[in-house]
Order: sequence, then structure tokens, then C-alpha cells
Amino acid sequence: MELKAIGLVNSPFKVKKDSPHQGRFSEEISTIEIFPEYAEALDGIENFSNLFVIYWMDRSGPASLKVVPHGRTEKRGLFATRAPVRPNSLGLCMVELVKREGNLLTVKWLDALDQSPVLDIKPFVPDIDCL
Ligand SMILES: C[S@@+](CC[C@H](N)C(=O)[O-])C[C@H]1O[C@@H](n2cnc3c(N)ncnc32)[C@H](O)[C@@H]1O
Repeated sequence: MELKAIGLVNSPFKVKKDSPHQGRFSEEISTIEIFPEYAEALDGIENFSNLFVIYWMDRSGPASLKVVPHGRTEKRGLFATRAPVRPNSLGLCMVELVKREGNLLTVKWLDALDQSPVLDIKPFVPDIDCL
């Protein structure tokens, strides 16, 4: 498998202790700078109010198969949680798209730390993504 960063997050969350445990619990604004070679792939994205952002949690610790989820007291299997200590450090956030300016996306609800690599962006489509 080969992964390529398509951009970088610029976030007010510089260190873990300042970040929300899920982006939806913060109204802070972040920007995602898509690398120029991928900018064209953003065309049409303004038509979506919400996006899935998949990013690489580059500062997460080693994977742990059992973790205590945030706000709980008992351990649970990692794959039954959203904990960052995963065999593959993928973070997933559904964000609100505030605006697109060229290769810059301004978003809300992103919990990625500043300078996290972005791996992919997909539109949130209620017909597909809502039960
Ligand atoms: C519980 S994880 C959830 C991530 C994502 N929303 C998900 O569900 O996959 C959120 C935490 O990951 C941590 N985090 C964000 N970006 C990170 C990075 N680049 N490296 C390590 N940890 C990161 C932050 O401390 C944040 O509080």
C-alpha cells in the first residue's frame, strides 16, 4: 500500500491537550491546504456543506488493542472505539465546509492537530451516509 499526503492541516490545536476529543465538540476553525498538484480535484466541492476528512495522526502513540474510551472507565477493543492509538493512524472527521478559496478549505469540526497530513477528502452525502 502506498499513501500520499494530499495536503496539510492548519489548526489552532497545536498539542494534544488542547484538542477536542472529537471535532464536533469544538467550533474552532481550521484550514486544509491542498497541495497545488491536487487543487484541481477540489472543483465542485463548494456544492457540499459537509465533507469527510481522512488524516494521518502522525503523533499518536503505539497501537493498543484494548483502550478505555474517553469518558468511560472500562477497557474496550480498539476497533469499538475512536481512539488514536491504532495499527494504522487514520483519523476520520465529518467537517462543515465554511469556504473554499483555491486550494484552501476552511472547515469547522476538525480535530486534527496542526500540520497533520491529509490523506483524502470525500463529500458527505446524506442519501449514502445517513441511516
Ligand atoms: C479520539 S481521536 C479521533 C480522531 C477522529 N475524529 C476519528 O474519530 O478517527 C481525536 C484525538 O486525536 C488526537 N490527534 C489529532 N491529530 C493528531 C495527530 N496528528 N497525531 C496524533 N494525535 C492526533 C487529538 O488529540 C484528538 O483529541
